[in-house]
Amino acid sequence: MVEPTVAVLVTGGAGFIGSNFVLHAMATHPEWRVTTLDKLTYAGRLENLRDVINDPRHRFVEGDVADPAVAGPLVKESDIVVHFAAETHVDRSLHDAGAFITTDVYGTFVLLDAARQAARVRRFVQISTDEVYGSVESGSSTEHDELKPRNPYAASKAGADRLAYSYWATHGVPVLVTRASNNYGPRQFPEKIIPLFVTNAIDHLPVPLYGDGRHIRDWLHVEDHCRAIDLLIDKGTDGEVYNIGGGNEVRNVDLTHRILTELDRPTSLIRPVEDRLGHDRRYSVDTTKLQNLGWRPRHGFDEGLRATVAWYRDNEWWWRPIKEADPAYRDYYATQYGTRTSHQTGSSGT
Ligand code: NAD
Ligand code: TYD
Repeated sequence: MVEPTVAVLVTGGAGFIGSNFVLHAMATHPEWRVTTLDKLTYAGRLENLRDVINDPRHRFVEGDVADPAVAGPLVKESDIVVHFAAETHVDRSLHDAGAFITTDVYGTFVLLDAARQAARVRRFVQISTDEVYGSVESGSSTEHDELKPRNPYAASKAGADRLAYSYWATHGVPVLVTRASNNYGPRQFPEKIIPLFVTNAIDHLPVPLYGDGRHIRDWLHVEDHCRAIDLLIDKGTDGEVYNIGGGNEVRNVDLTHRILTELDRPTSLIRPVEDRLGHDRRYSVDTTKLQNLGWRPRHGFDEGLRATVAWYRDNEWWWRPIKEADPAYRDYYATQYGTRTSHQTGSSGT
């Protein structure tokens, strides 16, 4: 029996990637005691943690990372901090960016400032995103590339990313920054393209494809992302940035076709809608630096997408209450999609 002596604080652990990380951590690190700090916003759900909620090695604390009275003591008693908590949806940041600044920027500041005063913290992982590089016309972003965020979500994450770096450069806080590409997998909130399109298609509802549908994202399975973070906690270097990407660059229109094929639904469900404002055309990250530490993605996109579609098909208990009974979700859906006029671009069926 291993004594759980390493105290790990996971912020945002009731969300999509955070919950996958908590489950991964509990399964692979018997020496860890994990505390999840989460505000339980619309995107945070306790059921995401149901497999560990009664485990004596796990503790759940409901609270705001931007509240020093709550976050400060938790940081100070930790050996490792993995900071996922954020407002994360680009479209929401276009409607109202305030919460993005408060949580993603100010909340990160609160945690870093607590870590500055905490002798115990030996690793602070700032979970950033490849969106901080902005739209990538050609090639792939390396960790040294300029940051050119182009929407309020990406800009708030870029602020937090560099703020974290500054706490390493000035105060010596043991910060390491990760910039991952688009994640997919179980328990992703059904506002992001894959769970939204899969659950709409299950219900024979239209899937709203923005603009010409030729925007490209690099898809990373959430389990591969969690394995990369775990590796970096052990083998990463303070003050460094690490890209994490799946190596699966796919146009949205092709992704949509694959989802519909998987669910045996007709392409007539594709509804081309008005484009997102400032829609980044392509993200692409160079992951050589991480691969040099020995990481490789284990999930191929064909298999990973098939398994993900199957997960949503088999777990309606998880998403149906959100989509059908949560007034906040229904309000968001109406605001985001209700006023979008159908505008045919002629490319979505190709
Ligand atoms: P998510 O929206 O599913 O979950 C976010 C979690 O943070 C929720 O549980 C929410 O309740 C919590 N939270 C929000 N504000 C909080 C606050 N003020 N205090 C405490 N908790 C709060 O997000 P996700 O997709 O799991 O993303 C997690 C992290 O990974 C984010 O930092 C995001 O920027 C980053 N990231 C995401 C992706 C992706 O494709 N989803 C890719 C790269 C990086
Ligand atoms: P999203 O899942 O919101 O992730 P991000 O904007 O962080 O990359 O969107 C992924 C891609 O899918 C992006 O190019 C926008 C597009 N998209 C649609 O075409 N329709 C939708 O309803 C949504 C939510 C996204």
